[in-house]
Amino acid sequence: MSAMNGTGEGAKAARTTAGDTLTLPLGMEAPASVDAVDAGLRSVGYLPGESTALVAYLAARLGKPVLVEGPAGVGKTELAKALASYLGRTLIRLQCYEGLDEAKALYEWNYRKQLLRIQAEAAGTGWDAVQDDIFGEEFLLARPLMTAIASCEPVVLLIDEIDKTDQEFEAMLLELLSDFQISIPELGRIEARTHPVVLLTSNNSRELTEALKRRCLYLWLDYPCAEHELAIVRLHTPELPESVAAKLVEVIAQVRTLDLKKPPSIAESIDWARALLLLGADDITEEVFRETMSIIVKHRTDLDVVAERVGVRLGLAPRPA
Ligand SMILES: Nc1ncnc2c1ncn2[C@@H]1O[C@H](COP(=O)(O)OP(=O)(O)OP(=O)(O)O)[C@@H](O)[C@H]1O
Ligand SMILES: [Mg+2]
Repeated sequence: MSAMNGTGEGAKAARTTAGDTLTLPLGMEAPASVDAVDAGLRSVGYLPGESTALVAYLAARLGKPVLVEGPAGVGKTELAKALASYLGRTLIRLQCYEGLDEAKALYEWNYRKQLLRIQAEAAGTGWDAVQDDIFGEEFLLARPLMTAIASCEPVVLLIDEIDKTDQEFEAMLLELLSDFQISIPELGRIEARTHPVVLLTSNNSRELTEALKRRCLYLWLDYPCAEHELAIVRLHTPELPESVAAKLVEVIAQVRTLDLKKPPSIAESIDWARALLLLGADDITEEVFRETMSIIVKHRTDLDVVAERVGVRLGLAPRPA
């Protein structure tokens, strides 16, 4: 069943009369323990760091949203996907961008359909009858936030890159995040029938408001330690010789210590491992490194810094003249 289909049914079930509130049971089968979450995430191909499983467990048990912050490519979005997969829930994703508004995030009225309805009305029908009709759920276009709230099945809601939106949008989210409900002036309140697990991600491109942070649990995802990163790289490219994977992780760690515009993330480590596998590399020699380093370093100035410093640090054989 698609998310939108789910919305239609859910909206119907959760609809209340204007101004009326309906208290509905929460439909959340929470995981039994932190270890269960840890094992569950691993079983779907996500290797959680130390606090990840704990925060995900608390989020599911306490019903609180989680704000996941960290640099690009460290597994923020992937965590939401993995959680949905492990919990057997539909993932509903709201991709944020500058200028995102309620109509694209929450709901909007289907004006064309409303107009057709008005035009099709037999002469003499009173305005009140038509008005009641055109502000019914049949004329509502549900967007991701409403889809998540109205869904009959519990879902995982991912509000991705919240820092790309403005503070007005954040304010709009507050009602949703604290009460899991949406107010539609013409229809009344729509309350969540089931409790979504909500993850918000941010690259920290702007400071989020205290009001938003207060409503969320907080998870900081950073670049992983060498052991953890090796496990992730091995998981994604099991065919790559272990010695190459280990050296790759070592080189990546070295590169991250340099003062770069954009240090390589886990995503780049995985891409590099895949490329080395494809090229059949059985070692990371200086030649291999120079030929493939644009996979992990993506700024002109960074390339110069890395080319100059990393070979020397690793003691790689000097390039033949
Ligand atoms: N703990 C992990 N276990 C398995 N794979 C991981 C893990 N962390 C990251 N990855 C992999 O790293 C890649 C990047 O992850 P993801 O897209 O979630 O990063 P992100 O933090 O959302 O980045 P951005 O801020 O750019 O959106 C994905 O391919 C994902 O599979
Ligand atoms: Mg992401």
